[in-house]
Amino acid sequence: MRRILLAEPEKGGLAATWSDGTTSFWPAIWLRDQCACPVCRHPNGQRLFEIGDLPEHPQIGRVTLQGGSVEVVWQGEEHTSVYPPDFLYDSNLKTRQTPPIKLWGADLAALPEADWSQLERDPFEELAWLVSYHLHGFGLLRNVPARPGMVAEVGDRLGFVRTTNYGRLFDVVSEPDPNNLANTALGLGVHSDNPYRDPTPGVQLLHCLISDAPGGDSILVDGFAAAEQLREWAPEQFDLLTRVPATFRFADKDTDLQARTPLISVDTEGRICAIHFNNRSFAGIEGPVDVVESWYEAYRNFAQTLKQPERELVFRLAPGDLLVMQNERALHGRTAFDPNLGRRHLQGCYVDKDGLESRMRLLRRHIAKARQAAQ
Ligand SMILES: [Fe+2]
Ligand SMILES: [Zn+2]
Repeated sequence: MRRILLAEPEKGGLAATWSDGTTSFWPAIWLRDQCACPVCRHPNGQRLFEIGDLPEHPQIGRVTLQGGSVEVVWQGEEHTSVYPPDFLYDSNLKTRQTPPIKLWGADLAALPEADWSQLERDPFEELAWLVSYHLHGFGLLRNVPARPGMVAEVGDRLGFVRTTNYGRLFDVVSEPDPNNLANTALGLGVHSDNPYRDPTPGVQLLHCLISDAPGGDSILVDGFAAAEQLREWAPEQFDLLTRVPATFRFADKDTDLQARTPLISVDTEGRICAIHFNNRSFAGIEGPVDVVESWYEAYRNFAQTLKQPERELVFRLAPGDLLVMQNERALHGRTAFDPNLGRRHLQGCYVDKDGLESRMRLLRRHIAKARQAAQ
């Protein structure tokens, strides 16, 4: 149990000492903005004021501990705010949490997997699988009934299926006159799907319905791990791939989709947050002429890094297996197969990343509530 032992105004904010001896500090403007009183927030939690309604420099007056919570009376306003210790702890600006991730390669000891019927029944199973999926950027579901359309049902349970020009779901089978190389029997190098969309699909689901053709094994590569390696080996090349956008395009008789994005995206703190890599739909770059050659060098290097055998997880999907991949991290491909000696039929769909994050938080909340009720 985390308790606050002492809370007092400090220059420009509030300082607190926790029962474990650590200290925290929150700037006054941040605290004032977080006030959760009925004047500041609707019962649904949404904020009722705008930033311009707050004093520019809120002044903390009296601070007291009330049943473990910190009560702040604001000077110059008739306003009192109460901050529960858990809220203060979770939103401690110094220990702000970023979702942990685990980089992997071919030697990943065990696939993050779960049995579908167990996951459907047991919120703990579902939460454990979602946590593992978020760590690794992909997860496998076993024994999902191998019937057409099931992939979209799973997509709607985990998030919200996004309809595209390929429909609500799409078939991956070998076709005589395909508009996409996915629908041939050719091997495919690892890639992210549809970087020609804005936004790029966040999550792809692929469900195996039939797999009795020789070949057609699945390949997965951790794009974040490969990009980290490039950053270590050739920082200037890494940098170039984060700064110069590439254009991706898909066109057929009904569509002309184009989007511009760097091959490697980093967030405001420099952490890798997305990879867009797809040689089939790469259209070109529009950077200044003098960077083109070095950009291509970096592109080639990154492609080789992605191809290292020690990065490749290779496994065979059996009917009923359903792969859920963060499309901008876990790059996927396949080996060639022989359509004359058997059939291979997958169905896929796209959902947004935030749907699965929401699902994970919701399960955490339900489980915490159930625990409290049981106590
Ligand atoms: Fe694909
Ligand atoms: Zn308030």
